Amino acid sequence: MSVSLLAQTLKGSEIIKIGGEINELKRQGEKITNLTIGDFDPAIYPIPTGLKHGIIDAYHANQTNYPPADGVTVLRENITDFLRERYQLDYATNQILVAGGSRPLIYATYLALIDPGDKVIYPTPSWNNNHYCHLSGANGIVVETSAENNFMPTADDIRPHLKGATMLALCSPLNPTGTMFAKKDLEEICDLVIAENKSRGESEKPLYILYDQIYSLLTFADKKHYDPVTLRPELKQYAIYIDGISKCFAATGVRVGWAFGPENIIGKMKSILGHVGAWAPKAEQIATAKFLTQTADLNTYLKAFKAKVQHSLDTLYNGIIELKSEGFAVDSIDPMGAIYLTVKVDYTGKTTPNGDLLKTSADVNFYLIKEAKMAMVPFSAFGTDANVNWFRASVGGCSLTDIEGMLPRLKAALEKLK
Ligand SMILES: Cc1ncc(COP(=O)(O)O)c(C=O)c1O
Repeated sequence: MSVSLLAQTLKGSEIIKIGGEINELKRQGEKITNLTIGDFDPAIYPIPTGLKHGIIDAYHANQTNYPPADGVTVLRENITDFLRERYQLDYATNQILVAGGSRPLIYATYLALIDPGDKVIYPTPSWNNNHYCHLSGANGIVVETSAENNFMPTADDIRPHLKGATMLALCSPLNPTGTMFAKKDLEEICDLVIAENKSRGESEKPLYILYDQIYSLLTFADKKHYDPVTLRPELKQYAIYIDGISKCFAATGVRVGWAFGPENIIGKMKSILGHVGAWAPKAEQIATAKFLTQTADLNTYLKAFKAKVQHSLDTLYNGIIELKSEGFAVDSIDPMGAIYLTVKVDYTGKTTPNGDLLKTSADVNFYLIKEAKMAMVPFSAFGTDANVNWFRASVGGCSLTDIEGMLPRLKAALEKLK
């Protein structure tokens, strides 16, 4: 074998396979409404102007050498203020770690806490926990969720798996569903973790919560974001938060993320990422630090950005619900946050005009790509069974007009299935 066992056993991404199909059709001159990518088209969703100018200014000021391993001080100071003002969370600068986006921080959390074989509990559908389990050698314990609870895990779902687990990976608002924890559900989960940790002896590793709130500023209408430490302050020593600018400022390519949590764990994550060198570029860190203090600009940006994302999500949601009322086997969950809509297209077992049987949700998706010129991602790409007929539709890469134009094509494609 020419490569390591880890390299050999890496799982390919289903989303990349779908991307290949879309690109092939584009090469043939087709126009596809691409609802697959968890990213933004910068022509539709540019980053905040203040942030862009800050980055350019920082390069003009020659901020081009190594940043400190935990992030430039002014950024960590301003994150401290931001957390206090926006979330009423109290974290000191040595409890914050900055990195090149939030991915390295999730990976570092796994590496800092997980020994090979340790149990990590995560719900499905969810984003990439299966890959981080693989990379860290964790024993991933999958908790299946249901549409009845907006695909968010409940205490009852999690309770049977807690004994001996080292980490519980949670995310809200959730990728891929755009749904969020209800206060009561998260409180009950928090209480489980507190009780479990009380039951553990000195020699046992505690149960930690990885709390990914990268979409927390992207919530709609009266939907409120909740987090474990605000609800249960005694969890502070057990919670590692993941956050950053990628999603809430449409800045996925700028690469500034941060984690916050107990100082000893954050310190170990800093050492791990120091060896990897996964720092955010220094100029971008300085610009982010400045932008976080430009409160009026930041709020104005967020308001307009959220309204635009919500309009697209609502348009898609209303279109699907209308099809449902006309008798089509589709459904959707009211968008709450992030850039995703949860869409049901319940057409497995049906036959296409070409006589092909649609056996799985992936088959349904490929049919819709070809026939309706629209692409989503089946939840199976986020860890659910292939027979779960729910999909993620991301609106970050599409214009409103594009989404409006797609709905009649979806209807026509579904009408052709027998
Ligand atoms: C829930 C969640 N966490 C983290 C990330 C990664 O963010 P970043 O681009 O900052 O690495 C994503 C990206 O899609 C995400 O959906």
